[in-house]
Amino acid sequence: MPLPDGFLQELVARNPLEDVVRQYADVKRAGSNLVCRCPFHSEKTPSFTIYSNPSHFYCYGCGAGGDVVTFVKRIENLDFMGAVEYLANRANMPMPQQVPGEIRVDKKRYYDMNAQAARFWHKILLSPEGKKGLDYLTGRGLTLPVITRFGLGYAPDSFDMLTKHLTELGYREKEIKENFLGGVSAKTGKLFDYFRNRVVFPIIDVAGNVVAFSGRFVGEMGPNDRKYFNTNDTPVFKKSRHVFALNLAKNSPDKEFVLCEGNMDAVSLHAAGITNAVASLGTALTGDQCRLLARFTDKIALCYDGDAAGKKATQKAIRLLNAAGIRVRVIELPEKGPAGEEIKDPDDFIRIYGKGGFLSCLEKAKGSSEYLFQQIEAQNDLSTMDGKLAFSRDVVAFLAQLDSAMERELFVRRAASVTGLSVEVIQTQAGKKYRSERAEEAKRKVDETVRRSRGFGDRVNPDKAKFAAQASKEEAVLGILLLRPENLINPATRAELDPELFRCEFTRRALEALLALSENGEEPDLARLNERFSPEEMAELEKLRRRRREMENNSPQVLEELFRRLLEDREKSETAASPLSSDWLEKIKKQKTDLHKGAKV
Ligand code: UTP
Ligand code: MN
Repeated sequence: MPLPDGFLQELVARNPLEDVVRQYADVKRAGSNLVCRCPFHSEKTPSFTIYSNPSHFYCYGCGAGGDVVTFVKRIENLDFMGAVEYLANRANMPMPQQVPGEIRVDKKRYYDMNAQAARFWHKILLSPEGKKGLDYLTGRGLTLPVITRFGLGYAPDSFDMLTKHLTELGYREKEIKENFLGGVSAKTGKLFDYFRNRVVFPIIDVAGNVVAFSGRFVGEMGPNDRKYFNTNDTPVFKKSRHVFALNLAKNSPDKEFVLCEGNMDAVSLHAAGITNAVASLGTALTGDQCRLLARFTDKIALCYDGDAAGKKATQKAIRLLNAAGIRVRVIELPEKGPAGEEIKDPDDFIRIYGKGGFLSCLEKAKGSSEYLFQQIEAQNDLSTMDGKLAFSRDVVAFLAQLDSAMERELFVRRAASVTGLSVEVIQTQAGKKYRSERAEEAKRKVDETVRRSRGFGDRVNPDKAKFAAQASKEEAVLGILLLRPENLINPATRAELDPELFRCEFTRRALEALLALSENGEEPDLARLNERFSPEEMAELEKLRRRRREMENNSPQVLEELFRRLLEDREKSETAASPLSSDWLEKIKKQKTDLHKGAKV
């Protein structure tokens, strides 16, 4: 293995888990442990727990678990060496020399390829060849400094300009395809560019890597042209995990980010001096995106499109952002400009009203509860009986979502005065709904946790369903070995540890890994498991260790007993599975005894 002895131990020692987690979450003390809201799933109360001796984490909500390397692999979406590099960087440790010829999924190579593509397209945009693209962007009110700040480019309407350039730089066809910059034509078998006749917006992550692109078609669109063409998931990009312009917004002194739908909206806002604008990459906002945002802010002003879809998306975004611990206000823009121009989105607005106009809308932005209440009011015709009833139903559902008792009280009064109903009747209904929803939520949470941790285990170890009885013994063995790795170097115990006796692929692989890591007769460095196991698998191993920790007896005798029973299982199953029928075996046995008898005679 390429890492020198002791490197990983030092790396782990110099990156205390709690310090690393603190970069992503608000860690607090709870008794002898440290807890925070889990950065891997949305929750209001902390279930993510950090333990010491050995240092590890476990989330009681979603089952995530492991050590500091697992944590970084998962949160930064890195492979093992990527996580090691990240932590080495963080602790100012020089990376050991890479062994020549060593192959690994090299994220840096993909990032570099993207950076090369961005540079290539940017250069074209500013050259005569890019006139069409530059005219388009300046026509939309963008100036050169903004174009440069975002690294915007133009991909000309050419078959293979970019892919040719990348090939010349030494990138292989397979890599270019994997990175979603080109494909192979079915007809000619030639590599061609995916982004053509588009202005290109690089998507840059918070560490400054170019991870993907979004391309806006320029000119008259044909019936088969898509307005936006975006990078699909690649080894370095998952759409649901990135937020456009967050790399810039995170440095803005104003921490109440403005979140809009389109990249173009965010760029236009930046161009007008609103430098904390971000966009959700067109898709519906995801929980991952909210948690990423929550690493940088706890306040967001939503500025989605004014149409019905935008309003619906706003309501959903409020829920998701709140769940990630972010307070939300909603910016409402006028539907028309002074000369009757249509205003669909923040981009349209800012080009008419400029920064000042936008800031005054921002100032008037309502808190999310106020916004939701008014939406309910607007959606129901309060002059009719039916309308009032429908309003009351909606409002009760809305009230049940409010966690603050004070806020609830205020809105109950408002609802009473709007409908003419008494405060008491609304309060009673809302109270009932609130309690039943919380009860249901609590139950759902428990179910979900059970389902997830079970689903987790089954996904990681699919053989478990087939070999239930053996699997639990194999898991117990692993749990003990992880808890007491000294067993691995005790020659007597080690001799018993035969991976061949394990029937599940996952547990066998884990035992083999533990044996390999302790081959030199020294206690294994368990952080090295991260090299061979995914964060999900690490979480499963962590679970097995935790389960054993709660048991009283984890002595070598238990291990021995477990192996004895595994051996028994194996023998039983071999007999059962044998093509040789039992009477055939009987016959052989009989023949043997007869032989013996004969010999004796
Ligand atoms: P819109 O249709 O509202 O576009 O889509 P827009 O942002 O106003 O774009 P311009 O102003 O016409 O250039 C909103 C977002 O949805 C995604 C894009 O991210 C876009 O910014 N989208 C839209 C796509 O991914 N593909 C499409 O074909 C259209
Ligand atoms: Mn637009």
